[in-house]
Amino acid sequence: MNVHAPALAGAHLPDEQTTAFARDAIDDLSQRPKRLSPKYFYDATGSELFEAITQLPEYYPTRTELSILRDRGNDISAIIPKGAALVEFGAGATTKVRLLLENCAIGAYVPVDISRDFLQGQADVLRKDFPGLDVYPVAADFSAPFALPEAISGLPKVGFFPGSTLGNFEPHEARAFLRGARRILGEGAQMIIGVDLEKDERVLYEAYNDAAGVTARFNLNMLVRINRELGGNFDLSAFTHRAIYNRDRHRIEMHLISRKSQTVRMLGTSFAFRAGESIHTENSYKYSVERFTALARGSGWTARESWTDAAGMFSVHALVASD
Ligand code: AVJ
Repeated sequence: MNVHAPALAGAHLPDEQTTAFARDAIDDLSQRPKRLSPKYFYDATGSELFEAITQLPEYYPTRTELSILRDRGNDISAIIPKGAALVEFGAGATTKVRLLLENCAIGAYVPVDISRDFLQGQADVLRKDFPGLDVYPVAADFSAPFALPEAISGLPKVGFFPGSTLGNFEPHEARAFLRGARRILGEGAQMIIGVDLEKDERVLYEAYNDAAGVTARFNLNMLVRINRELGGNFDLSAFTHRAIYNRDRHRIEMHLISRKSQTVRMLGTSFAFRAGESIHTENSYKYSVERFTALARGSGWTARESWTDAAGMFSVHALVASD
């Protein structure tokens, strides 16, 4: 039963994903401090804004990770067994996976993503560009257990988790994710994972407070989504983007700050805000190579190789499942 059905009726039929969004948004805005989950940033507009972020001069992670994947193409292809199934956790832009598909002898590609439409579109393009490649999309939330397609059961498995998406997880969630990936991929599996590194705080600050204000629009889009999909009445001009570096916890925090004392309604529920009160929308954890490899070691994986760019901005790790 969907308890929010009456409030949603005017908008559109509440599908499973909208119901989950509604439940999480109400729970999370009822917490103190208030929060919202970064997994809800990525509707069509949010995905476009994130793509725009990856092009910003201040936002170094995407281009730096790409340069590592490109420069280390030979090392990576030497590690990936011939005919392996590449299982990507989350399916964003295809730029990164293309690099692996071009350099390595990959037999099957399994993108796992919560958005079925997005997956389908992505699978179609890749099938066209890599005619010999078997593509088996899996529509699932990759932060929970899911089953791999039967068709790849006989193939060696390589997980792929680029973009430092791991940084969105709390350390205990990151460990649970890595343990889960180990279970899903099975014995003898490997994993290629991108992890953002700690660095000069000003560089981090500017990457999340860009001069053009794209990150601010990305953050505020969460409220746009609540207004449209959950019948909310957030006044966008009454909230402001703030990103800070929390040094003790090694993380960038994104917040939406209420500019005044106000009440917002959504799905028949009221949420009171004090002036200056925050909705905490995202953490982006930063690691050192040592802290990450220790985390992996405690979660069923051994680091086989770790690569960084010359400036030490970003890291890519090849992990092997521990026995
Ligand atoms: C996609 C989670 C890696 O944390 O840098 C970019 C998302 N948030 N700018 C990141 C993000 C604000 C991004 N990740």
